[in-house]
Amino acid sequence: MSRLGTETAFEVLVRARALEKQGKDIVHLEIGEPDFDTPANIVEAGANALRHGWTHYGPSPGLPELRQTIAEYVSRTRKVTVTPEEVVVVPGGKPIMFYAIMALADEGDEVIYPNPGFPIYESMVNFVGARPVPIQLREELDFRLDVNELVSKITDRTKMIILNSPHNPTGGVLTQRDISDIADAIGDRDITVLSDEIYSRLIFEGEHHSIMSLEDWKDRTILLDGFSKTYAMTGWRMGYGVMRADLATHICRLQTNAVSCTSSATQIAGIEALKGDQSAVENMRSEFQRRRDFVVERLNRIRGFSCRVPKGAFYVFPNIKATGWKSKPLADALLEQAGVAALSGTAFGAFGEGYLRFSIANSSQNLAKALDRVDEWTKQNL
Ligand SMILES: Cc1ncc(COP(=O)(O)O)c(C=O)c1O
Repeated sequence: MSRLGTETAFEVLVRARALEKQGKDIVHLEIGEPDFDTPANIVEAGANALRHGWTHYGPSPGLPELRQTIAEYVSRTRKVTVTPEEVVVVPGGKPIMFYAIMALADEGDEVIYPNPGFPIYESMVNFVGARPVPIQLREELDFRLDVNELVSKITDRTKMIILNSPHNPTGGVLTQRDISDIADAIGDRDITVLSDEIYSRLIFEGEHHSIMSLEDWKDRTILLDGFSKTYAMTGWRMGYGVMRADLATHICRLQTNAVSCTSSATQIAGIEALKGDQSAVENMRSEFQRRRDFVVERLNRIRGFSCRVPKGAFYVFPNIKATGWKSKPLADALLEQAGVAALSGTAFGAFGEGYLRFSIANSSQNLAKALDRVDEWTKQNL
């Protein structure tokens, strides 16, 4: 158990709530979830499903109609042919990481993953006794992955490479060229790519590109996607993996052992999410873009902060090296003294030192309030 890590966002949330109990006013920019409610048509579909008896266990890999709907959606968006047998529906995107790493990475295997990056990758790789091999995402490259560095990390023991685009916490987005360079770098080695595309619909410039779309790559990719971010459905707990049918059978067995299946009524709501009106998705995306522009512009006027423009997801990842502070003490000071809950870049791995992550999934008024407070704090303390 001592090898298993955690997600600091939840711990900071607990600390922030404790300060609120003492009467402090805190602006929450720590948790990565849309501040919007789930669109009404999806809520209605879920509520109706409960009224109409969708209150029982379902098949472990997911309801056939949802698997079919996801197969069609992924075929359309990734320009490949996906069948329902290649889809496993799980409670959130996270279980796909958990199951895929558990199924494929053994002791002695190496798994290359982005750092800074979502903390659960490293945690799970450590947990199963494999060796986590970080690849640093650099600000100079707008936090895209340096393919030459990737080449230098691949060994005979590399079992899996984890990609995440759009990227949490930096908002970096891989280009079409990056993706094909990564594929060329891997060549025909027996390596599986776990492609975490949970933010695929939250892109501000250009298009989303998936390694799964490249010729001959569908069967070498495990695609992780879901509903939490795109449809503001974090609390419903539903996501999915797309992978070779034989691998899906094993992942499904892990699911049977762990949770049996994803909530049936939630899955009915998922069908509506994918098939119904998509205007709420675009509304949320453009609102995040407006907030991003505002927040980046303000951050760049704060002493010691400099911030690149993220191209996707809903985070900003300012460089704070010029403040002279380390990330964790600065995040602590901003929480305790300025009433702004942000995350230290190191919550996403050692290469996050020198950065903070602010989620922009909060109202414009709250974002403005948080930035005023950070500005004021730096003026008094730097
Ligand atoms: C990169 C990334 N992948 C996966 C997830 C997990 O999403 P879910 O809530 O659907 O499990 C998150 C959530 O923050 C994330 O940032």
